[in-house]
Amino acid sequence: MVKVITYGTYDLFHEGHYRLLKRAKELGDYLIVGVTTETYDKARGKLGVVDPLMTRIENVRKTGFADEIIIEESQGQKFSDIKKYGIDIFTVGSDWTGAFDYLKDYCKVVYLERTRDISSTMLREQKRHIQRIGIIGTGRIAERFVPEAKLVSGVSTQGVYNPHKESAERFAERWQINAYDDKEEFYENIDVAYIASPHETHYGYIKEALEHGKHVICEKPLVLEKRQAEEVFALAKERGLILFEAIKTAYCPGFQKLLGIACSGMIGSIRNVEACFTKLENPESRELTDEVYGGSFLEMGSYVMLPVFKLFGAEYEKIEFDVIRGENGLDLFTKASLRFPTGIATATCGLGVKSEGRLLISGTKGYIVAEPPWWKTTYFEVHYEDAGRVDKYSETFLGDGLRYELSDFLVLLNQEEKNAFKLTRGESIALAEVMEEFVRREKQGA
Ligand code: CTP
Repeated sequence: MVKVITYGTYDLFHEGHYRLLKRAKELGDYLIVGVTTETYDKARGKLGVVDPLMTRIENVRKTGFADEIIIEESQGQKFSDIKKYGIDIFTVGSDWTGAFDYLKDYCKVVYLERTRDISSTMLREQKRHIQRIGIIGTGRIAERFVPEAKLVSGVSTQGVYNPHKESAERFAERWQINAYDDKEEFYENIDVAYIASPHETHYGYIKEALEHGKHVICEKPLVLEKRQAEEVFALAKERGLILFEAIKTAYCPGFQKLLGIACSGMIGSIRNVEACFTKLENPESRELTDEVYGGSFLEMGSYVMLPVFKLFGAEYEKIEFDVIRGENGLDLFTKASLRFPTGIATATCGLGVKSEGRLLISGTKGYIVAEPPWWKTTYFEVHYEDAGRVDKYSETFLGDGLRYELSDFLVLLNQEEKNAFKLTRGESIALAEVMEEFVRREKQGA
C-alpha cells in the first residue's frame, strides 16, 4: 500500500484545494491530510485565517479524498509524521517547490502543479474590503508599523499625514505610500487612522478621525485623562466605529498564554504582581526632554500597568507613585504601588535607570516568572513550593509584534469573534485614569 501525506490550511475551501487533494490521492492508495491549527498558522506568520479549524477539517473530509485527517501543530511535525505513519510520498502544491526537499531522504517528495488564479488569500481579500490605513505621525513606532502591516492580509497602508510636509514626504518616499499635509484629503482616502503622534495630540486626533467616520488604532497611552477616554469611547460607540488602543503586549500570543495560566488556578489565588520594564533612553530624546509630556511613566507605564489590571481588574483601592527625577524634573524611574481587594502590585518603569525587566506573579500555590522581554513574551516558568518542579512554557513572537494587534483589530472589525477581551474599554479607561493621576501628583510634587 502506498501512503501519501499532504498539508495545508484549507481556509475558505476552493477549487485549488480540491484539485490538489484529488491528485494527491491518485498518487497512492491511502491519503493523510494534515490541517494546520490557528496557533501554528499565526506562529508561521499566516494571519487572518477566516474559517475555524473544525470547518476546515470538515471541508477536507467532504471531498472524500482523505482516508485520514490529522492536525498540524508545529514546525518539524512533518518529519515525525512521515516516520510515524510510514509515509511513501509527501506532496504539496508547486508554490512550495524546493521547500521540502529535505524530506527526500525519508520519502518521495512530489510538488503538484498549483491551480492558477485562485488562493485563500484572494478569497479573503474579496470577502473583506481591504482596510486602507492612514498613519498620523512619522516617528519610530510608525516606521515599525508599515512593514508589520504588510504581513497582515486585509489591510493596506495608504498614506501618512504629518502637518510638517517634509516629514510626511520623507516617510512616504521610504515606504512608497502617499504623503498628506491636507487633513481632509487624508481622511477621504482612508478607512482607519493609525495614530502614532506624540501623546498629548492623541485626544484631538482620535476625535477628529472618529468625526470623519474612521476607525481608530491609537498608540498607548490612548489619552491622558479618564474623562477624555470615556468621551472618545462614547463617540466611537455612537458612530458605530472601533477605537482600539495599541498596547502590543496585550495582543501577543505568549502574553495571552501567560494570562491563561495565571488565571487557571495553577498558582492558586493571585496575591502579588510585580512588573518592571526599563529602556535606557538618550538624554537628548523627546522622551527625556519634553517637560510636560515626557518621562518614564507616560512613555512606558501602559506596559507595566497592563498585567496588573489584567490580573486584578481595574478597580484598585489605592495607588502611590515613587519617582526618581532627573534635573529637568522628569521621572527617570517610577514605581507605582497599588492595592486591590485581593492583592498588591508594583508597576515599575524607567528611561534613565536600568533594572531587571521581569514579570512576577505570586499566588497561594506557586508563582509565574517571565524574564525580559516579557512585554514580547516568548518564555515563562511556573514554580511551586517544591523547588524541583518547574513547568516551562514557550510561544513564538514574530518581528516587532504589531502584526498581532493589527490582526486582532481586523477580527473585531469583521466581527467574526468578539475578542475585545484582550484589552477592554474599561481597561483603557482605567489606564487613562492612572496617567491622569500620575500627572496630577507629579505637578503637585515636582
Ligand atoms: N493549492 C493549490 N492550488 C491553489 C491553492 C493551493 O494547489 N490555487 C495547494 C497548496 O499548494 C497546498 C494546498 O493546496 O498544497 C493547501 O494550501 P493552502 O495554503 O491551504 O491554500 P492557499 O490558497 O495557497 O492559501 P493562502 O492563500 O492562505 O496561502
